[in-house]
Amino acid sequence: MLKEPSLTDHILIERRGAVQIIRMNRPDKKNALTRAMYARMTAALAEGDADPSVRVHVFLGVPGAFSAGNDLADFVVIATGGEGGSEVWNFVLALAKVEKPMVSGVDGIAVGIGTTLNLHCDLTFATPRTVFRTPFVDLGLVPEAGSSLLAPRILGPQGAFALLGLGEGFSAERAKAAGLIYDVVAEDALEGAVLAAANEIAAKPPQALRIARDLMREPREELVTRIKVETEHFRERLKSDEARAALTAFMTRKKG
Ligand code: COA
Repeated sequence: MLKEPSLTDHILIERRGAVQIIRMNRPDKKNALTRAMYARMTAALAEGDADPSVRVHVFLGVPGAFSAGNDLADFVVIATGGEGGSEVWNFVLALAKVEKPMVSGVDGIAVGIGTTLNLHCDLTFATPRTVFRTPFVDLGLVPEAGSSLLAPRILGPQGAFALLGLGEGFSAERAKAAGLIYDVVAEDALEGAVLAAANEIAAKPPQALRIARDLMREPREELVTRIKVETEHFRERLKSDEARAALTAFMTRKKG
């Protein structure tokens, strides 16, 4: 009998010294994130923050796919009057509030939260074939995860509009030039580069680093408030005709 994929298969948590690795691992769906995957990642961030032996969180995906964003089937459930969503919002709030540095390694597909997650990371490495894309408006939705606040700060208003309004793809090179990510490295060097950076961070005096990081992220309340406002719009938009039409088009598309 075939074994059903379990939650632990879709999110793999690993420790390498002081580094906690959170790996999204649903390759058949390009790492589209289910409610259970969000919940596991939220718990991992809390557990890592509470564990003094963890100094850095690392996010990784699978070869060719960091994440295709929220599982659109879950959005359809909400769009058609069903329950759900709290796991997503809890994860996004956890990203905004996390106490320890986060490093991400992105290879290939980085859509929706697969892009906006990185806005919360202290360092992001990406490979040359990576494209960051947030098609929120095309889906009848609005930016999430604090991206409506963070992206204009990083990209300026027009760059943010290109990313969040037009849904333009940002190649790794463009993302680096725009300040969205820290560096571009070859596919086979990605995990090494991410872990080297994470280990470098882990070796810093933790209290000084924490204060420095907090100072750079002040005022956090502003981000949390923005996430709450975005979330209210997002929930409403999910039930809109525009979103329903876009979600139905994806779910019923014929692949050539
Ligand atoms: N939610 C649910 N399933 C998804 C998904 C998502 N966000 N992204 C990809 N998948 C599924 C596909 O339906 C497909 O499933 P199937 O093999 O059972 O048909 C599988 O993952 C592989 O995707 P596919 O589209 O064949 O891969 P691709 O390399 O041609 O394209 C994407 C990859 C990411 C460009 C494309 O799948 C896509 O546009 N996904 C939607 C992204 C999105 O809008 N995310 C939400 C942002 S808020």
